[in-house]
Amino acid sequence: MQFTHSGVLLCLSVITLWGADQGRHPLTGRTIAGVMGAGGASWLERAERENEERPRLAVRLLDVRPGEAVADVGAGSGYYTELLARAVGPAGAVYATDIQPGMLELLERRIRQHKLTNVKTVLGAEDDPRLPAGALDLVLLVDVYHEFSRPQQMLRRIRAALKPGGRLVLLEYRKEDRAVPIREEHKMSVQDVRTELEAERFRFERVLNDLPWQHILIFRK
Ligand SMILES: C[S@@+](CC[C@H](N)C(=O)[O-])C[C@H]1O[C@@H](n2cnc3c(N)ncnc32)[C@H](O)[C@@H]1O
Repeated sequence: MQFTHSGVLLCLSVITLWGADQGRHPLTGRTIAGVMGAGGASWLERAERENEERPRLAVRLLDVRPGEAVADVGAGSGYYTELLARAVGPAGAVYATDIQPGMLELLERRIRQHKLTNVKTVLGAEDDPRLPAGALDLVLLVDVYHEFSRPQQMLRRIRAALKPGGRLVLLEYRKEDRAVPIREEHKMSVQDVRTELEAERFRFERVLNDLPWQHILIFRK
């Protein structure tokens, strides 16, 4: 087998950013992606992200209200946590969870640096985000659902954490679009997301495709 120089670089970046794939989802058969290690945080923080993914537009489209209680599950280094913290304001609250202590350290550094007073960090487990029951208006999963090693258990716990009628929103790279430059297992189709979430009693509301690379998939409890 021959590797080009860029092929070798791509393989190396894949190895350092993401771990090995974690089996298949029992309903859709999709490959569950490996978890991005804390060493990949610089990719989450890259300067081009705002133009490539438009996170500020995404949060505007979510229409988060001041005073709301929201969760950023799989928050990583907190790129979205910070945007959510500003959107809910001092009367609101953001629960930012991750399963990697290394990511939470970066997140806590960000909280100190930007003096965010309304963010609570939570070390979650692979099958439990450890959120308060019945307390949240919105749970946001950005580029994380496809990494859940125990997706059904996570969805049940997330459902329990939402208020009646609360929203679960996923941002996932569009699998239907071959031009989106992301590895296949890190993308999701609308059909697969719907199959997996509707089986856990989430009601599909709509999908927004205003972002360059990602679906915004909105569900209700
Ligand atoms: C690709 S990163 C995205 C981080 C962040 N949402 C962002 O967009 O900047 C995925 C994150 O999800 C976390 N993760 C994976 N499985 C998780 C789980 N079951 N519960 C909470 N976090 C999880 C990983 O540790 C990693 O930090």
